[in-house]
Amino acid sequence: YEWNEIALNLAKDIEREVMPLFGTKKAGEFIGFSPSGDKTKLVDKVAEDVVLEYLRPLGVNVVSEEIGNIEAGSEYTIVVDPIDGSFNFIQGIPIFGFSFAVFKNEKPVYAMIYEFITKNVYEGIPGEGAYLNGERIRVRHLNEKSISISFYTRGRGARLVEKVKRTRVLGAIAVELAYLARGSLDGVIDIRNYVRPTDIAAGYIIAKEAGAIITDDSGEEIKFRLDAREKLNIIAVNDKRLLKLILEVI
Ligand code: IPD
Ligand code: CA
Ligand code: CA
Repeated sequence: YEWNEIALNLAKDIEREVMPLFGTKKAGEFIGFSPSGDKTKLVDKVAEDVVLEYLRPLGVNVVSEEIGNIEAGSEYTIVVDPIDGSFNFIQGIPIFGFSFAVFKNEKPVYAMIYEFITKNVYEGIPGEGAYLNGERIRVRHLNEKSISISFYTRGRGARLVEKVKRTRVLGAIAVELAYLARGSLDGVIDIRNYVRPTDIAAGYIIAKEAGAIITDDSGEEIKFRLDAREKLNIIAVNDKRLLKLILEVI
């Protein structure tokens, strides 16, 4: 399989179908509930149908946010979120993306995040590196006096915002993990026990290849199953000093 070609074709196909709906009321029409209990909106369904139709002939297993787990008896599993940041999309906020991660017998082999508005393509190739539009990217060096994080909480560890200079909660965690990978944020944290493997699988691979440390909320290397129903906590940072600071507060 040429995963980068498959992922890019898919991203472009989704883009063509969904962008006419950007910022429209129609995009937000309620369709049903996803396996994780989230609401599926029209834009989610339109984007996912493109993905499923494209991947079906390949005979691979698919874990996708709205439909859940499709077992095809393949050694490959694609963990995909056709649109991460659908609230943003529906409201006309230009931060959302396509998240695509490939696993072979549970081991990561390829990841792509595509940002529809900037057209930036982020890729992660395990053991090789992370790329933005084909150029190598790395997490940035931590400056303890000017830490910038994305931090999702429902109150737990809220004091963390006092210990950093900037907090930016952008509403598309796949994209935010890509920003960590390229050195635009120092950390991405979600401790609501809410994100799912479909939200973070590609971002996990890309950020890790860019040098990020990615743990659960107790500082242990994050582990997730390739399952659309799992709920997770994630701490992804550029430096172990920031991890320590976060673990002390939460
Ligand atoms: C959402 C985004 C958001 C995160 C939510 C997710 P969706 O994904 O990743 O950043 O905070 O937990 O549900 O629903 O827009 O694909
Ligand atoms: Ca998502
Ligand atoms: Ca989604």
